[in-house]
Amino acid sequence: MNISPNKLEVKGLSKKYGEDLILKDISFSVRENEFVSIIGPSGCGKSTLFNVIAGLEVPVSGEVLLDGSSILGVTGKVGYMHQKDLLLPWRTVWRNVALPLEIQGKTKKAAREKVMEMLPAFGLKGHENKYPAQLSGGMRQRTSFMRASMLPNDIMLLDEPFGSLDAITKTKMQDYLLRVLEGLNKTILFITHDIDEALFLSDRVIVLGGTPAEIIEIEEMSLERPRGREMVLSSRFLQVKKQLIRLLG
Ligand SMILES: Nc1ncnc2c1ncn2[C@@H]1O[C@H](COP(=O)(O)OP(=O)(O)OP(=O)(O)O)[C@@H](O)[C@H]1O
Ligand SMILES: [Mg+2]
Repeated sequence: MNISPNKLEVKGLSKKYGEDLILKDISFSVRENEFVSIIGPSGCGKSTLFNVIAGLEVPVSGEVLLDGSSILGVTGKVGYMHQKDLLLPWRTVWRNVALPLEIQGKTKKAAREKVMEMLPAFGLKGHENKYPAQLSGGMRQRTSFMRASMLPNDIMLLDEPFGSLDAITKTKMQDYLLRVLEGLNKTILFITHDIDEALFLSDRVIVLGGTPAEIIEIEEMSLERPRGREMVLSSRFLQVKKQLIRLLG
């Protein structure tokens, strides 16, 4: 196996809101092209951690390094799909997805061509002229994910992208995600509440727990890619699943 350099390093990060300490001394690193999930109870500080990494919030102490340079308090360095989909209701699917391309200076025509070419991979072909209000929950999340994929950053933070979906749609979305990522060469940090989802998608799983939140476990999955659904019955999968249920239950 190739040992890739660290893409992202989070060192000794602590974050307060007012007097409340939310995150305490969080340290971890993410290798290039690695898929790392962060799992932990609701309200423990997962989105807060992403907001700090994305430069939207400043911690009381600690450091965030991207390719070895500090990005503390600097926005625009990582692609970020927020927990809420934040689609613009007055823009159609293709125009929502095209937004990051327009911001990068592409003409409307060039942006449209690129979006159209990639619509099938995201399961959105034929829906490009619909408005967000005319989409199902799964389509909205695919649109939002596709928009995030148009950002030029080679690292993406995905905050519970499939959180509100039913089990069947969620499974399909996970398969889309893995398929789409194969061609994208991105490093992914992924928040979820769902143990099976974290284990199925990730190279490593980081477990947050306690108040304030600390890292209570890091599990290396050591499972091959490409992955098929039968993986959920493998002994390694079940071993880590038991461990996480014990920690989070
Ligand atoms: N802007 C803010 N101002 C003050 N407190 C905040 C702010 N944002 C979040 N918090 C608090 O910080 C804590 C962590 O919130 P956060 O949204 O990071 O949790 P989370 O782990 O993402 O939860 P969930 O899984 O429900 O999305 C919560 O107690 C929340 O009330
Ligand atoms: Mg959250």
